[in-house]
Amino acid sequence: MTTIDTARPTNLRLQEVFDDVLQALLDAITRHRVTWEEFRVATEWLTEAGDQGIEIPLMLDVFLSSTVDDLAHAGDGTENNLEGPYYVPDAPFLHHPYVLPQRQDEPGEKLHFAGRVRSTDGTPLAGAVLDVWQSNGLGEYSHVQPDLPEFNLRGRLVADQDGCFEFMTVVPVPYAIPTDGATGRLLAAMGREPFRPAHIHFRISHPDCEPLTTQIYFEDDPWLDADVAGAVKESLVTPVTRWADAGGGQYAGCAYDFVLSGSATAPSALRAG
Ligand SMILES: [Fe+2]
Repeated sequence: MTTIDTARPTNLRLQEVFDDVLQALLDAITRHRVTWEEFRVATEWLTEAGDQGIEIPLMLDVFLSSTVDDLAHAGDGTENNLEGPYYVPDAPFLHHPYVLPQRQDEPGEKLHFAGRVRSTDGTPLAGAVLDVWQSNGLGEYSHVQPDLPEFNLRGRLVADQDGCFEFMTVVPVPYAIPTDGATGRLLAAMGREPFRPAHIHFRISHPDCEPLTTQIYFEDDPWLDADVAGAVKESLVTPVTRWADAGGGQYAGCAYDFVLSGSATAPSALRAG
């Protein structure tokens, strides 16, 4: 007679989380008396999402990633925020004075961004590396939009001996996440807009501290409270001021000081959003 092997190693953490997830789904099915027809549509939608490459990560970013990101915040430095799907490693190191690489006729208003990087005890982090990336004035990212030059509006810069940095770029604008796949269809069916507020992404590192991945948003953006990814944190929103330039035009200016945690054990951000 054969006996069932009950000594098989069990991933208790997985078991616990999966059981809760499953129970939540079963509760929803029961509470809403989901029909076979609705269940069939859900199955087809999941199959379609799985066949479309980026749709599963996109869907997770839209609905779940910001909560995982909230839990990943450790220490009392600047709040982390989603890395998002558009980070490209090995962006060029820029030369001072820093200007994010852009085309001659780059659309968008000129933006001067300045700030300081320090540790939680106030020490300026000289030599901190800021890896910066953003969409352009039309909401497009290089390496995503095929007609943009490589590393357009992407680059790495280094904080000076006082931890200070400044760079010129253009003001990014709100953009819609891809709407032509399963995630977009689901949002449309629920009457939800696919927009993210304008933001600039930062990955900041220094040998003495935990690296920080975050995004900086701008006051008065109409999508701050309706971000499709639900990722905006109040502490990451900065005001924008308009200044006159020497040629009679104007440019936008903003500032943000970053604080890196000491030696927190948790990673500062997960790849998501
Ligand atoms: Fe982004």
